[in-house]
Amino acid sequence: MSKPKVIVTRRWPEAVEKHMKELFDVTLNVDDIPMNVEQLKIAFQTADAVCPTVSDKISADVINVENKTAKVIGNFGVGFNHIDLGAAKSNDLVVTNTPEVLTDCTADTAMTLMLMAARRAGEGERHVRTKAWKGWRPTHMMGTKVTGKTLGLIGFGRIAQAMAHKAHFGFGMKIFFFDPYPPEAEVINKFGAIQCDTVEDVLKQVDFVSLHCPGGGSNTNLMNAERFSVMRDTAILINTARGDVVDEPALVEALKSGAIKAAGLDVFAQEPTVTEELLTMENVVTLPHLGSATEDTRVAMGMRVVENLQAFFAGEPLRDRVV
Ligand code: DGY
Repeated sequence: MSKPKVIVTRRWPEAVEKHMKELFDVTLNVDDIPMNVEQLKIAFQTADAVCPTVSDKISADVINVENKTAKVIGNFGVGFNHIDLGAAKSNDLVVTNTPEVLTDCTADTAMTLMLMAARRAGEGERHVRTKAWKGWRPTHMMGTKVTGKTLGLIGFGRIAQAMAHKAHFGFGMKIFFFDPYPPEAEVINKFGAIQCDTVEDVLKQVDFVSLHCPGGGSNTNLMNAERFSVMRDTAILINTARGDVVDEPALVEALKSGAIKAAGLDVFAQEPTVTEELLTMENVVTLPHLGSATEDTRVAMGMRVVENLQAFFAGEPLRDRVV
């Protein structure tokens, strides 16, 4: 029997690519150059499975291409707002993702940004590297204390819960959250977390706000000028979710006017382009979408795609079916 034909849109960790070669008739992207719309359409007309990631826009235009052979989209990543799920559904295309395996690393990145932004670590590092540092002094680069403070989580799914665990048990932080689909009381009680009825209820009573909701749809620009004005002027915003959840011009204004104190950002609305003004602000820490970027996690994500594809081609139930 011939092996299923699989097209992978970007370079994946070597161990996963090797494993895929054993199992599938796989086309890898050895140059790691993002595929354009035409190339993506051809992939859907050539392969049984297309395996994209967050840097590929799998729009209705791509999915609706004529003479499709693809039956499944095995997404490398947990977020899927770059895939038009409605188009996938109406074309009978199955979509899978890679939850769980990236939970801790993404939460670690959120913690990293929280600590960096609070303790002015990016600014301090630039200070040392540019030889601007004149030595220790009592008033030098005083930041915000993290331990014992309040943390507000917008969205309280797996990654937010992992952050709550680290922040509550590691840093003694009090947790507040908003989620339209809250977890079981048992989970909430584990962290002694306070459930709020609205995003605003969280924003007005916390020192740090960390975003953990999906991107796209009604969450686009969820953090807008009005909501920044509700936050404390000493508060710090952390985003490891999706860039479009934050209205970037409104964030720039909030930082400039002092409506909020600082921000730690791993994701941006127009990646890899970053709003110019954010790049020049000392109170902004930026990372290049590194949430899940550890060797362990990226291999685990790839293997999870493989597991989903194997189940799909064997006609077995899928562990991570999105549609
Ligand atoms: C995810 O898994 O959604 C990461 O942001 C990479 O896509």
